[in-house]
Amino acid sequence: MGPQAVNLLIVRPIPDPYGWRTLGLNAMIQDLKRTSEVVLVSNRLPVQQVKRGRMSHWETSPGGLVSALRPIIRDLSCTWVGWTGETGVEIAPFVQDGIQNWPVPLVNAEVRGFYEGFSNRIIWPLYHDAIRQPEYRQAWWKPYVDVNRRFAQAASEAVEPGGTVWVHDYHLQLVPSMLRAIRPDVRIGFFLHIPFPPQELFAQLPWRREILEGLLGADVVGFQTRIGAKNFAEVARRFANATGSDEIVQFDERSVQVGAFPISIDVEQFETLAASDDVVSQSIEFRARLGGARKIILGLDRLDYTKGIDTRLQAFRELLRSRRIARDDCVFVQIAIPSREHVAEYKELRVKVEGLVGEIEGEFGDIGRTPIHYLHRSVDQRELVALYLAADVMLVTPLRDGMNLVAKEYVASRLNNTGVLVLSEFTGAAKELKSALLVNPHDIGALVGRMERALRMPAAEQAIRMKSLRRTIKENDVYKWANTFFHTLAYART
Ligand code: G6P
Repeated sequence: MGPQAVNLLIVRPIPDPYGWRTLGLNAMIQDLKRTSEVVLVSNRLPVQQVKRGRMSHWETSPGGLVSALRPIIRDLSCTWVGWTGETGVEIAPFVQDGIQNWPVPLVNAEVRGFYEGFSNRIIWPLYHDAIRQPEYRQAWWKPYVDVNRRFAQAASEAVEPGGTVWVHDYHLQLVPSMLRAIRPDVRIGFFLHIPFPPQELFAQLPWRREILEGLLGADVVGFQTRIGAKNFAEVARRFANATGSDEIVQFDERSVQVGAFPISIDVEQFETLAASDDVVSQSIEFRARLGGARKIILGLDRLDYTKGIDTRLQAFRELLRSRRIARDDCVFVQIAIPSREHVAEYKELRVKVEGLVGEIEGEFGDIGRTPIHYLHRSVDQRELVALYLAADVMLVTPLRDGMNLVAKEYVASRLNNTGVLVLSEFTGAAKELKSALLVNPHDIGALVGRMERALRMPAAEQAIRMKSLRRTIKENDVYKWANTFFHTLAYART
């Protein structure tokens, strides 16, 4: 690989929490197509067009990938290649909030085959421990290949000679090798935001060799955890005729570096928000509206079956039924951010979750007093931090999660070292946040026990745990994550 490989140092920006979420029409938008030294590629652009009646505006896209990458990207003067979330419209490249967006258009049939089908009904469930049965439909493979080729083509046009392309997530696993075929001069990194499954599960995938060959086109393939990286190296040797160690895989007469790069958040940005007057007043208002002295338990997730929302609700019902905590002493707030609403499993989950919420209200509610508040909508970042500040207990109990940034955001927001994080053992975050109350989310009895313990935890123990958690995330923020990845990519032996 040429000596021009970029070795970037991303510096933390001066905290500027204003205007983070809704970018609005006042941001500078211009038509332009210019190449960059660094190109980021992900299924979604950092902004999506939201239509209300005849009006439309740009909002920050949902999900952990965008919230993690947005802060680092503002300094990079790079180009971000991705989909706008709209179908059938071609939007020219534009700059917004200092980021050059390079849209890849998708038509309805591609959204069904590539996004809803192959990505979200095969790869997503399979990589999350197959907690829903993947549907290995042959017809979804071609759109996946075609759309990956389109993204590779766009990245090849957007990157300068000898530049760097960083490809993200499970929608685009073929892009590294496709891009290498078009642009051998470019340095290519790939990062998977979700878990990479063990051999016994990955072996089910009818296109396992093609997927591996796609990923092995990168110079560096990164995962959230060491186990994910190890699983990948093992299947690459078994199904793609690769050789080498778990760290350096040899494939097609090249070396591919494989490793764990646990993603994080912009800790300072959350701290600044948590200290700002309007956010603090909003949190006080939330607390008052939720019943003053009652302890507040918070759950906040995309409405996804991997997040364990239904099991968590069943555990809350058990907690109240058992009378281990009196119904008047606590209140549960569950925010469920709408997600992938055209996919059958997500529709079923919504019915199940809303049924459980209704049952809990019916069994334990009273006139003018409800044990549970359920909101099916997204929240902006200031409201989010106000909720974190109001919550005595944060429940992050996915059945499987690559990392889970909500856990880190809650910790970053708890400036006064109070509050308890209950965290699933099956998240990437649990590998770092060891002072949380860890729990097996499949075990309703254990969840009930953890909730009770969290609600009763003395302030001194809360402070010891929270200080330790805060130290961990401050040492490993999103800037460190990005710099480590870029550094590895710049010096990778290829
Ligand atoms: C997860 C994935 C992201 C994805 C996000 C939102 O965090 O890792 O790649 O963008 O969910 O999901 P969506 O399907 O709305 O893009």
